Amino acid sequence: MFNSKITGLGYFVPENVVTNDDLSKVMDTNDEWIQERTGIKERRHVIKGEDTTMTMGVKAAKIAIDRAGIDKDDIDFIVFATLSPDYYFPGPGVLVQRELGIKTVGAIDVRNQCSGFVYGLSVADQYIKTGMYKNVLVIGSEVHSTGLDFTTRGRGVTVIFGDGAGAAILSREEDTTKGVLSTHLHSEGQHAEELSLISPGMGTRWVTDIIKENDPSDVSYYPYMNGQFVFKNAVVRFSEVIMEGLIANNLAIEDIDLLIPHQANLRISQFIQRKFGLDNDKVFNNIMRYGNTTAASIPIALTEAWEQGKVKEGDLVVLAAFGSGFTWGSVIIRW
Ligand code: UT7
Repeated sequence: MFNSKITGLGYFVPENVVTNDDLSKVMDTNDEWIQERTGIKERRHVIKGEDTTMTMGVKAAKIAIDRAGIDKDDIDFIVFATLSPDYYFPGPGVLVQRELGIKTVGAIDVRNQCSGFVYGLSVADQYIKTGMYKNVLVIGSEVHSTGLDFTTRGRGVTVIFGDGAGAAILSREEDTTKGVLSTHLHSEGQHAEELSLISPGMGTRWVTDIIKENDPSDVSYYPYMNGQFVFKNAVVRFSEVIMEGLIANNLAIEDIDLLIPHQANLRISQFIQRKFGLDNDKVFNNIMRYGNTTAASIPIALTEAWEQGKVKEGDLVVLAAFGSGFTWGSVIIRW
């Protein structure tokens, strides 16, 4: 048995900065409301035609490959987590294989929304632990901005989400006291519709129905979120799954050197920080600058934390996510 270890990290965000004031020009919202409820000051939106979920993922991946000190031909497998694929099918994993000119290795697409990167790391970790693969590329990337409702009707969702991508190379580690110590995954489909994009194409109503009906008041092609319900579940599940990971490794809250929560809402991160009694320098947040980038949020945050020297050899790093599904999970890493 081996462990897997993160050997390279990279992220990419589009240059186009959209501030809260920018949004208040197209819908009834304001900087004060957004900052107070979510902590977000600005987010990035792609310029249509310039970037897609796949192209941003590729840009992040190139940096991660470079920093891992490997060649693209050393990659044995690709895992791509997103809720906003370029094509409904095929998924973006194969597009990355083509774009990077990687040989014909396997490529899998993970559909676990805000928990996508945690699920993706877990998938990669299993392949490495069993000895099947040596280097796995894991990407989380999202383009939200092209599918949101930029009218007042959509403000409860639209102000929160941003575009971006992050990537990691997971490599074989022979010392099993290092690297990914364990991953913990959960789901509760009972609440599937509480944060969802149900139509089109899911068997209830099809794109062709929507086009035929041509009803301007139809909002079924925009994401729906029961914000308060999601919030309440998030704080409970985040706490549970972090504790589950610590206990599985005979560790305690005091052992955490850095917690990187999925960037859903600054208030959620602060709630967890208070509950666990963690100092400010032990919880990394960047939602202020990027909003919620779903599957990209943890790899972007982890890369920034690493670039800022906040992740050092021997540190205990905890990743935790919660989102649509509901799905949630944690990853316990000895760096
Ligand atoms: O990453 C996946 C997981 N997602 C999450 O974890 C998100 C969890 N939920 C949240 O972050 C919060 O519930 C939100 C930020 C989405 C909303 O904050 P809230 O404090 O729960 O507000 P609310 O939905 O209860 O809305 C309060 C008021 C409403 O007006 P009334 O009914 O009180 O008159 C909304 O219409 O705020 C209004 N509102 C807005 N006002 C200005 C909703 N969105 C906006 C907006 N600007 N953008």
